[in-house]
Amino acid sequence: MQNLLPKINPTETFAWKQLTQHALGFREGEKQTLNQLFEADPQRAERWSLEAEGWYLDFSKNLLDVQGLALLRRLAEECRVQEGIEAMFNGDRINETERRAVLHTALRDPSSSLCLADGSAPGELVKEVLGRMEGFVNGVLDGTVRGCTGLAFTDVVNIGIGGSDLGPLMVCEALAPYRNSLRVHFVSNVDGAHLQRTLQKLDPETTLFLVASKTFTTQETMANAVSARAWFWEQTGRRNRVDLHFVALSTNTSAVKSFGISLERMFPFWDWVGGRYSLWSAIGLSVALAVGFKHFKALLAGAHAMDRHFRHTPWEQNLPMTLALLGLWNRNFLGIQSLAILPYDQCLGRFPAYLQQADMESNGKSVDRQGRALTYDSGPVLWGEPGTNGQHAFYQLIHQGTSKVACDFVLSAKSQYPVGPHHRYLTANAIAQAQALMQGRDMAKVVATASAAGRSEDEIQRLSPYQVFEGNRPSNFLMCQNLTPHALGSLIAAYEHKILVQGLVWNIYSFDQWGVELGKVLANKLLPLLEAQENHSVDGLDSSSAALIRRWQAWQKD
Ligand code: F6P
Repeated sequence: MQNLLPKINPTETFAWKQLTQHALGFREGEKQTLNQLFEADPQRAERWSLEAEGWYLDFSKNLLDVQGLALLRRLAEECRVQEGIEAMFNGDRINETERRAVLHTALRDPSSSLCLADGSAPGELVKEVLGRMEGFVNGVLDGTVRGCTGLAFTDVVNIGIGGSDLGPLMVCEALAPYRNSLRVHFVSNVDGAHLQRTLQKLDPETTLFLVASKTFTTQETMANAVSARAWFWEQTGRRNRVDLHFVALSTNTSAVKSFGISLERMFPFWDWVGGRYSLWSAIGLSVALAVGFKHFKALLAGAHAMDRHFRHTPWEQNLPMTLALLGLWNRNFLGIQSLAILPYDQCLGRFPAYLQQADMESNGKSVDRQGRALTYDSGPVLWGEPGTNGQHAFYQLIHQGTSKVACDFVLSAKSQYPVGPHHRYLTANAIAQAQALMQGRDMAKVVATASAAGRSEDEIQRLSPYQVFEGNRPSNFLMCQNLTPHALGSLIAAYEHKILVQGLVWNIYSFDQWGVELGKVLANKLLPLLEAQENHSVDGLDSSSAALIRRWQAWQKD
């Protein structure tokens, strides 16, 4: 018997009502501020921090007290979150609108004995594909798997978009210190510039294409794959050698075959793997090629370790659960609309973009599990850039803007690229930013500093208002010792589980993505108008779209 998710309106729980009351004082600045919370409890940093799978989470700089945190845990209990967690790990079809199980956790647990309602055993399937991936990766890396002229591969191009791009791209960059000599490129955008600028640098005889698409129907990916294949044909003249240069990572066997890719070069995955949760599946082949299979397995092991931590650790010590509850507090009770992901690590440059899809495509929903419009906020806007670049771009708004932004800082204590004092500068900046957001700088301090610097009374009066920092702005700080494949796997899995918990409390379906469909349908309808000659009728279109198309057609002329 498959368990469906509980369907509980969180606003009707005791805890939600209490939290709403509890938050009023914090929102209006009447209760304790962050500075006061720290003054009141000298052990706050110790009490409000935890460690899991090599990650130290300092969540002390959240505008929340012990009572509030206890109420958040009670909220999760009243929403029967643990039931939802178990339903996911057990392979129940918790993606109810698509009637699918959600089992990315099984991808990092090949020893799993789980058996699904249809009789299939994810552990067995995963083990088999991982074995095939390993053989292929080793063959490419040791030069026994070669191209059509007998040359070893030097370049790999992953063609995919969304989850079939962002995950592997982010991980390949994050694990740059572990990369081998194979050059791995990513083409996602249907803008021809992306493909063409990539192909310009490549030799078709030594290039391997990975067509990464769960459905093998996505317009952008298929357009790029077809054009890459045309380029390969044109450059080599070997129309019958697509099988040597193209690999498919997909669930759609028939579409893969009709593209001309042999089934020996197809690495499958399954409908219980969501696109944005697929980097652990065959979609991770580019990662395995870039860093070697040993490191790919360490990435999976790190994620699996976080899965176990998440499932079995009491909530007080549970890292993903804590991140999730704090996010709910900020979003639903303090009214904070956005979350900045701020990795102080150049290698994590694409981590914010990756999390944008993971979080916003999962929890950017406005209908609950009973089909009713939500009366409360769901997923926040996620964005971010690596520190310290962000400091010189948008931190002004984070510190002094009119809307509050919650921040997650991410730092590795040791640098994989030690250069002189750089890593100390980077670390000092990260900690200082979190400190500044918390402490702020009041008028008295501004005036005292300016007087000590010998400024005139006039100048002090004129400039002081601009130099005040309100502070009291919440942040989390995540730190590991080294950003190893294992640590990275744990970090990503922690955020995946955070998203799950929040979706469970919000009573939404986190694993579908109907919101991306309408644009695709409309684009397909407009396409014939762009292919047709000028003056092809745009009747029936709204006047704005019609005018844009007419202008576009007119500008095609010369
Ligand atoms: O953006 C919608 C989406 O379906 C994502 O969920 C998915 O990651 C992406 O498109 C790519 O899909 P596919 O792997 O099927 O090409």
